[in-house]
Amino acid sequence: MALPTPLSLSITFLVIFPTFTLSSPPPPSSSPSDIDLLLTKIKPSLQGKTENLLLSSWNTSVPLCQWRGLKWVFSNATPLLCTDLSSPQWTNLSLSKDPSLQLLSLQLPSAGLSGTLPRELGELSSLQSLYLSVNSLSGTVPLELGYSSSLSNIDLGDNLLNGSLPTSIWNLCDRLVSLRLHGNSLSGSLPEPALPNSTCNSFQFLDLGHNKFSGDFPEFITRFRSLRLLDLANNLFSGSIPEGLGGLNLEKLNLSYNNFSGVLPNLGESKFGAEVFEGNNPGLCGSPLRSCRGSSGVSSGAIAGIIIGILTGIVVLASLLIGYVQGRKRKNREDDEELEEEGEEDENGGCGGEGKLILFQGGEHLTLEEVLNATGQVTEKTSYGTIYKAKLADGGTIALRLLREGSCKDGSSCLPVIRQLGRVRHENLIPLRAFYQGKRGEKLLIYDYLPNRTLHDLLHGMLSCFILFCFAN
Ligand SMILES: *[C@@H]1O[C@H](CO)[C@@H](O)[C@H](O)[C@H]1NC(C)=O
Ligand SMILES: *[C@@H]1O[C@H](CO)[C@@H](O)[C@H](O)[C@H]1NC(C)=O
Ligand SMILES: *[C@@H]1O[C@H](CO)[C@@H](O)[C@H](O)[C@H]1NC(C)=O
Ligand SMILES: *[C@@H]1O[C@H](CO)[C@@H](O)[C@H](O)[C@H]1NC(C)=O
Ligand SMILES: *[C@@H]1O[C@H](CO)[C@@H](O)[C@H](O)[C@H]1NC(C)=O
Ligand SMILES: *[C@@H]1O[C@H](CO)[C@@H](O)[C@H](O)[C@H]1NC(C)=O
Repeated sequence: MALPTPLSLSITFLVIFPTFTLSSPPPPSSSPSDIDLLLTKIKPSLQGKTENLLLSSWNTSVPLCQWRGLKWVFSNATPLLCTDLSSPQWTNLSLSKDPSLQLLSLQLPSAGLSGTLPRELGELSSLQSLYLSVNSLSGTVPLELGYSSSLSNIDLGDNLLNGSLPTSIWNLCDRLVSLRLHGNSLSGSLPEPALPNSTCNSFQFLDLGHNKFSGDFPEFITRFRSLRLLDLANNLFSGSIPEGLGGLNLEKLNLSYNNFSGVLPNLGESKFGAEVFEGNNPGLCGSPLRSCRGSSGVSSGAIAGIIIGILTGIVVLASLLIGYVQGRKRKNREDDEELEEEGEEDENGGCGGEGKLILFQGGEHLTLEEVLNATGQVTEKTSYGTIYKAKLADGGTIALRLLREGSCKDGSSCLPVIRQLGRVRHENLIPLRAFYQGKRGEKLLIYDYLPNRTLHDLLHGMLSCFILFCFAN
């Protein structure tokens, strides 16, 4: 259907600048009055091919206040009523020339209408409510409906409307209270509002159930914070249900009989039962449906997601640790001097990481800082490394054995042995209290200091075995 050029132009303009329509002034007085529009365009379109009983009241020989399904208002907000029949001006059709008289609502539910929605509905500048549910209206929702300057309640439910919903419908966003299109054959994905982050602050009722809408869950709906009813049931929506839905304070929700999958968002403690989600993809899970974990029904994608999540966590922790460790730089590369230097600030100003301390039974009180800041004194040098007697800041004394550089190079083969040593408790062995591995690979075995025994004697056998074990790998 080709539009006359001026109208096409103005529509193009409005599509490009949707906000313009929101603030556009009322139509100039030269435009047809609401009464003219009703008689010449709207009535013929709505009634279709067959004469309609209710619409026949829209007739110049009938007093205006008796036209069925219409509510009128003067610009001073006085309604037009039939109660005051003695006042001739209320019934005189010279009213039709009165620009201050405007149509407030059009309500003809169950009226046997079998035509189509005329685009002139969008020209009724004061029309706030359009209720035409339970009729046999066919065709599409005209995009001009979105250019109406006052429309806030729309119910076109249970008709035969098809095609897609025009994007222009969101031009009404700021004043829209209800949009009910339940029970038609509308299709395609739900259009996004042209203005990003639209919140449609008055919008409370969105009922699109029993249509043929498809595509992903229309996530922009989760920004409509005032929404109380959301019915998307019995459509062809698919994909996951966004987390943001849990942020709405919905009183009624119906997402049943679509093809939604994935994990349900948290919608509040037992607020909605399983029937709200029934008839979706068997992959849909989470309370109040079956649990997503430990069930054979969980998709491999979900499992992969969980594993990837855990691995990511480990990698993040590991890189944090590495970053911490690398931040610390040692001053001295000499094994023998190293320990005595530890008490001083390092070159990086001491703001970095220090390495890793593994604590065993009896060593729980040790901290990394304490061990590294202990002032040591060489007591023995052996082929396997150097033994220190070290004083802790709190006055305690420990014995440290620094392994020779190069021994036990491969940390991953060392650690299991170290852990094993850490668990061994025997009267003839000095128990290992902790193990330290520095960022450059330095390794310290930390023992209790026993002044009246030669540490070397006691350790030698065990360490030999330990070091041989490491070198053997
Ligand atoms: C208006 O009603 C009169 C009689 O009530 C009828 O003759 C006339 O055809 C009607 N006009 C329209 C436009 O329906
Ligand atoms: C009613 O309107 C007609 C024109 O439609 C006019 O001639 C007539 O004077 C009006 N009557 C009253 C009482 O206003
Ligand atoms: C809408 O329905 C009409 C018949 O009522 C049909 O001719 C038309 O092709 C349909 N349009 C769409 C987009 O399905
Ligand atoms: C929309 O919201 C997102 C995040 O909430 C923000 O980054 C973006 O700038 C917003 N866009 C506009 C046009 O406000
Ligand atoms: C949800 O919608 C389905 C399909 O339209 C309907 O059968 C069911 O009764 C509705 N449930 C609720 C709780 O409204
Ligand atoms: C539902 O979605 C799945 C993908 O999640 C798809 O494989 C399947 O074909 C869809 N079913 C229907 C009936 O659209």
